[in-house]
Amino acid sequence: MCGIVAYQGPHDARQRILEGLKYLEYRGYDSWGIAVRSETGVLNRVRNTGEIGSVSMADLKLSQARDGIGHTRWATHGGVTVKNAHPHFSMNKKVVLVQNGIVENYGALKKNLEKKGYVFLSETDTEVIANTIEEYRKKHPLKEAVRRTMKDLEGRNAIVVMEQGSQEIIAARNGSPLIVGVAPHEVFIASDIPAFIAYTNTVYYLDDGQMVCVKDARPEFFSLSNGSHVARRKITVDIKAKDAEKGDYAHYMIKEIMEQKETTRRAVEQDEQQLKKVADMIDHAYGSFLVGCGSAAAVCKLGEYVFAKIGNRHINAVEASEFKHFSGFLTPRSLMIVVSQSGETADVIEAIETAKKKKVKVIGILNNTSSTIARLADYVFPIHAGPERAVASTKAVTAQYAVMTLLAYAVRGDIAEGKRLLVEVAGQMNDLLNPRYGQYVKKIAKMLVRQEHVYILGRGVNVPIAKESSIKLQEISYIHAESFAAGELKHGPLALITKKTPVIVLTGNDGDTIDIISNAKEVQARGGVIIGIGPHKHEVFDYWLHVPDVGELSYMVNVLPIQLLAYNLGILKGNNPDKPRNLAKSVTVK
Ligand code: G6P
Repeated sequence: MCGIVAYQGPHDARQRILEGLKYLEYRGYDSWGIAVRSETGVLNRVRNTGEIGSVSMADLKLSQARDGIGHTRWATHGGVTVKNAHPHFSMNKKVVLVQNGIVENYGALKKNLEKKGYVFLSETDTEVIANTIEEYRKKHPLKEAVRRTMKDLEGRNAIVVMEQGSQEIIAARNGSPLIVGVAPHEVFIASDIPAFIAYTNTVYYLDDGQMVCVKDARPEFFSLSNGSHVARRKITVDIKAKDAEKGDYAHYMIKEIMEQKETTRRAVEQDEQQLKKVADMIDHAYGSFLVGCGSAAAVCKLGEYVFAKIGNRHINAVEASEFKHFSGFLTPRSLMIVVSQSGETADVIEAIETAKKKKVKVIGILNNTSSTIARLADYVFPIHAGPERAVASTKAVTAQYAVMTLLAYAVRGDIAEGKRLLVEVAGQMNDLLNPRYGQYVKKIAKMLVRQEHVYILGRGVNVPIAKESSIKLQEISYIHAESFAAGELKHGPLALITKKTPVIVLTGNDGDTIDIISNAKEVQARGGVIIGIGPHKHEVFDYWLHVPDVGELSYMVNVLPIQLLAYNLGILKGNNPDKPRNLAKSVTVK
């Protein structure tokens, strides 16, 4: 959460930072701020609430500068106010900084500083960092003051600091991502590469426990533990600026939905040797876990079903935030399979750290293969979905389903069959990703737009798809959407059904169909309106969203009409589908 950009070089720092922050809005968009340093070393700052997306250079009211730092915020400590927006000054206004992350011990640090006479203007943990640096600065050079401050902080974070009168920018990482981009005579520091990809694809990744000092547009790297020099390797990344653009589409979400035919096909491109090796590990493992958050947690739940059905293995799916309650069952014979689009989710990282302490091997199903999780994992299966910028995950989810399915087929010893089926499904997605289908979904969205509640039912592999559907509808339409395993209906949720309650029923062409159709009838008998999703029309459906018949892999296609429905509901309600209120795409705090 929160996006950071810093720039030093011959060009207009205001423009580079403003542009970069717009690419990082997916990390948070409740407020923003930029601080620049003039040629004479004077610090100037501008901050505001709201999204940075619509801010222009003229709005900045900052004079031109050669270096500066910027931030787009997802509030953790303190409400969404200008005072709480970053960058934060230290009390003497000589140190200015931005943070991505959380200082868990900020209360204790703040008390100590207050005893020393520091006065705080915001409710944030970040101002505590600025004043701690100011305090250390009384006895130490800036770099050492930043290093000592970082050692005092508990929690996961990354900071970028400037000081009045100096010519350095200093950044440090302990748990939140920071990448240094270099072009001739200019240096960028950012939470993610798209912030500067228009200017360079040459980067250095900062690891946890490291800091970078940028002077004369040259980065030098140091260890946070003792301040000694560390060598970092320059890497050329294969990301194209246009992949991160929305092109002719109105929103990233619809662009990313439409890409799924290609992304599903790409997801099957996996290293066969690694697939076989990991499949063998899964076969011999005992007490393994699938771990993720949000949509990725629902993908893990699907993994539980596909490993059982296709691979004949039992693997437990647990939300990463809940994992610590089960960590006692880990042994060196366990495996942890983590699913993450960003590769930066704090709860997942914490679960991995626990697993690693117990010598458990970690397998990552990841989109960002240069992320923190990618570097922590022992084996990585890249999902190849390309940059996903809408907060609500769509193409990454289906690519994760595909990789999970392929891995289950690998456990069964039939990679070729898994690939064949998935490539076939990718082709059939065309039936759903076209304007005519989109128009029909829109009609259903119009029917639902005034509803306060919608329920989604599934059985078997469609239980996790019902869960994913509820997440999509909640975040984009703000309608209360809740999913149930259809068999659970009679044990409580049926009491919620009254006249015209909309209920989405996910079906396939499998052994669960007869049972779920009976459940739909029970709902209809109580006045519910049934929106059926599936390959065949059943009498009980009041509305039917047709999907291709892909046999046991119905989960691959059933989620597509839901994504379109959520998008259309968002549009009809005047919401921005790319930026759901209160949410952020990369959740780097617990
Ligand atoms: C956020 C995103 C979700 C995502 C979840 C986990 O909530 O909005 O789309 O599923 O984080 O993120 P990850 O990057 O680990 O997949």
